[in-house]
Amino acid sequence: MKKISIIGAGRVGESTAHNLARAELCNEVMLIDIVEGMPQGAALDIQESAPQFGFDTKLSGSNDLHAMAGSDIVIITAGLPRKPGMSRSDVLDTNLDIIRSIVDVMVKAVPEAMVLMVTNPVDILTYAAWKRSGWPRNRVFGMAGVLDSSRMASFVALETGFAVKDITAMVLGGHGDTMVPMTRFTCVNGIPISHFLTREKIDKIVQRTRGGGAEILALKKNSSAYNAPAAAIAAMVSAISHDRKRILPCVAVLDGEYGQQDICMGVPVVLGRGGMERIIELKLNEEEAANFKNSVAAVRADITAV
Ligand code: NAI
Ligand code: 2OP
Repeated sequence: MKKISIIGAGRVGESTAHNLARAELCNEVMLIDIVEGMPQGAALDIQESAPQFGFDTKLSGSNDLHAMAGSDIVIITAGLPRKPGMSRSDVLDTNLDIIRSIVDVMVKAVPEAMVLMVTNPVDILTYAAWKRSGWPRNRVFGMAGVLDSSRMASFVALETGFAVKDITAMVLGGHGDTMVPMTRFTCVNGIPISHFLTREKIDKIVQRTRGGGAEILALKKNSSAYNAPAAAIAAMVSAISHDRKRILPCVAVLDGEYGQQDICMGVPVVLGRGGMERIIELKLNEEEAANFKNSVAAVRADITAV
């Protein structure tokens, strides 16, 4: 890829820029933020790590949204993060205004690009970006499930002691308390975790996964998570830039899949050169279907604000 722009050079944005550059996923990374000097400083700082890591990606920063011109992907991490005690939905109104102003520039500056939404509440803001841009759904998607699944896989590794590289986890639904950790599809080298863990231990992992973001926030107090989120974003970008056709849980616009329409939800998708190329529709059992429906209701309640 030629160029990737990251709008919002805060914690997630800066860490993402470093990951993309180190992995040489594009020739140029552009960091954009409203705070004067901040994206420029972050870009230079990362650039100065290149001799140590040996990457050739060029980084720059700007306070002008039009600097995104020429980008293949626009990653949006701009907005207010949650403070302890706030839900992701509490920051909706402020972040909705921010996202609309970014999308209005984006559709003119990079009409053929893809947009990867990160700002919370991510399901609602992905939907808002899709509606506002008028772009086809394959070019508008969000990051949540890769992070939530990564958290779940980490908890399984900690509980079982098995190598994390052998563990695959899957979390669907909205990126909130109603998310749907799919224990049936969570395995150690293909062996379902129910082979190794009691129901009680699995339930604890499910609850810890649902509260994964809040756990970090409660510990750090002045910052939500950004290392695992930035790693999850880089995994999605890598799938697209290398046309890997990975199946990853992403926030996608549903058009009849899972019995839902006109909503964004976390579902397994094929990620490749075409962006969100296809949604994989799993046959959910009764309990999973009820949990998914519950999550849909929570997301729909906020979508009315868009
Ligand atoms: P942060 O506060 O460190 O960074 C946000 C940046 O956005 C700030 O630098 C701010 O100046 C900038 N900004 C605000 N309005 C802007 C505008 N109009 N144009 C350009 N930049 C603007 O926050 P952090 O920790 O980086 O989180 C960013 C967002 O990502 C939050 O909404 C957070 O909740 C979300 N998030 C989502 C995750 C997910 O799984 N989807 C995971 C982690 C964070
Ligand atoms: C997280 O899950 C804040 O949504 C973010 O860490």
